Amino acid sequence: MHAMVYHGPGSSAWEQVPDPVIQADTDAIVRVDAVTICGTDLHILKGDVPEVNPGRILGHEAVGMIVEAGGGVHARRVGEHVLISCVSACGVCRFCREGRYGRCLGGGGWILGHLIDGTQAERVRVPFADLSLYPIPAGVSDEQMLMLADILPTSHEVGVRNGRVRPGDVVVIIGAGPIGLAAVITAQLYSPGRIVVVDKVDGRLEAARKLGADVTLNNGRDDVAAEIAALTGGLGADVTMEAVGVPETFELAVDLVRPGGHVANIGVHGAPATLHLERIWIRDLTISTGLVDTNSIPMLIELIRSGRLDSSGLVTHRFGMSEFPLAYEVFEHPGDSGALKVVLFRNEETGSES
Ligand SMILES: NC(=O)c1ccc[n+]([C@@H]2O[C@H](COP(=O)([O-])OP(=O)(O)OC[C@H]3O[C@@H](n4cnc5c(N)ncnc54)[C@H](O)[C@@H]3O)[C@@H](O)[C@H]2O)c1
Ligand SMILES: [Zn+2]
Ligand SMILES: [Zn+2]
Repeated sequence: MHAMVYHGPGSSAWEQVPDPVIQADTDAIVRVDAVTICGTDLHILKGDVPEVNPGRILGHEAVGMIVEAGGGVHARRVGEHVLISCVSACGVCRFCREGRYGRCLGGGGWILGHLIDGTQAERVRVPFADLSLYPIPAGVSDEQMLMLADILPTSHEVGVRNGRVRPGDVVVIIGAGPIGLAAVITAQLYSPGRIVVVDKVDGRLEAARKLGADVTLNNGRDDVAAEIAALTGGLGADVTMEAVGVPETFELAVDLVRPGGHVANIGVHGAPATLHLERIWIRDLTISTGLVDTNSIPMLIELIRSGRLDSSGLVTHRFGMSEFPLAYEVFEHPGDSGALKVVLFRNEETGSES
């Protein structure tokens, strides 16, 4: 088969590799029908995730069909159409039993395209298939479902749920990349009063308005603190979410929240940020951090099935899988391409038919 292989910082290729095989009886092999690229894959390619070894197949988001299942797989079956979660779950460790699959101690967690070969391939081995694959209901598009492998559960769990968004809240989302935009979509499940999105790129702010943001602010230009004060009678936002991953935006998220409010950090940070305890000790704030668990995938699937949630607005570009290098190029340069999420579909002519 063909796969997108990491060869060390700055080097990767769509190339011929051996087909995956069942290694444990709880594994399944999935034929990949649609797959996407995550900002995390770009970090891996830059060499920012040193535990990813050269030779590793990238990718942790996909939908496809089960073509082979080990003898220990009971809930899923060959021929079934499934969503592959970005997080695998052993199901029995202390954290899995609390639904904290991201923290799995039994060999799961974020392993695909990280510690084991990933989904940017014609086929992929998925460990703990019973708990790491979700059946796709009839009538739901692969594209909509693909957004549930990572970005929708991440923004919902780490942003909206940790931030405790409630009806009527003023919610400020800082960063309008795929994660911030998915937070715009999933925050609406809780009927906030107003959603404000802050970014430095006008094109991203326009995407946020299309997906349901009520107010957008460009922090390269606008006085964001003054605007939020004006919107909230000087109190500050009920909930702020950080969806960038730099000190400046975390500090802004803390500055913009009202006394008693919630700050939900989603961004992955590489540098220390300053927490002004000398200012906030008196403000009754709750600040949360987190890694996605994907335990909200079943709920999100049901909302898509029933038409109450629409993730299709996040997909801007479509390719065949053999065009992977081009898709990376487009995804890596959103300023030129306007890319949010790119989707790659199985090439019938190169796909390993079964
Ligand atoms: N916690 C988790 O489990 C988890 C999971 C997935 C991704 N993430 C993280 O979430 C963050 C967002 O992911 P993404 O894929 O949307 O990233 P992205 O890089 O595509 O988007 C970031 C957005 O922030 C904007 N931005 C950059 N600097 C800014 C600034 N100073 N002020 C305002 N806006 C600014 C950019 O214009 C862009 O629109 C990343 O840090 C990513 O690593 C966390
Ligand atoms: Zn991801
Ligand atoms: Zn576990």
